[in-house]
Amino acid sequence: MVDLGSGSGMDAFYAAALTGPAGHVTGVDFTPAQLAKARRLAAGTGAPTLEFVDARIEHLPLADGSADCVISNGVINLCSDKAAVFAEAARVLRPGGRLAVADIVSEQPLPESVVCNADLWASCIGGAAPQDHYRAAITAAGLIVHCVRDNDYAFISDRARTASASYGVHSVSVLATKPRR
Ligand SMILES: C[S@@+](CC[C@H](N)C(=O)[O-])C[C@H]1O[C@@H](n2cnc3c(N)ncnc32)[C@H](O)[C@@H]1O
Repeated sequence: MVDLGSGSGMDAFYAAALTGPAGHVTGVDFTPAQLAKARRLAAGTGAPTLEFVDARIEHLPLADGSADCVISNGVINLCSDKAAVFAEAARVLRPGGRLAVADIVSEQPLPESVVCNADLWASCIGGAAPQDHYRAAITAAGLIVHCVRDNDYAFISDRARTASASYGVHSVSVLATKPRR
């Protein structure tokens, strides 16, 4: 299993508990402080099946068809090249493998004033793609989308709340699979 943008590793730890000793979980992140915390916590658990690697999720250092499942929580919205992220997820998945992500999308295209605001990018608003574009990018990568579900998620800052209300920025969970042939 691969966790894109694993941060301090919480989802990767849950994944390692689910995959068990026969499985393997790779957390991928490019922020040194996040990787250091995740590795420190992993060392404390003594989980040999869990590793954290320093890489951009647009260029995964993983072999073709090597993952049963790719997960990600709140990360792909932060990437300007979402097509590259989904292409990499599709490449590393084995045929029949699953992509399961939670992310932030919008109901309408965001104006330049939002997209070019660094605080709103950091708040997971500025990089939110319109939901239909997001879904189309997954399909263009060769994956089949089975389910898109809205999540109950509230933004914290006033600015983020305002942008969310104005453009329909919200959280979704998406399940897709790689065709078997
Ligand atoms: C909002 S945090 C989410 C962390 C984790 N998934 C969680 O749910 O707690 C976003 C994480 O994605 C990482 N990230 C953002 N863009 C990335 C990229 N292009 N490649 C690798 N990691 C990235 C950041 O370093 C950060 O740790």
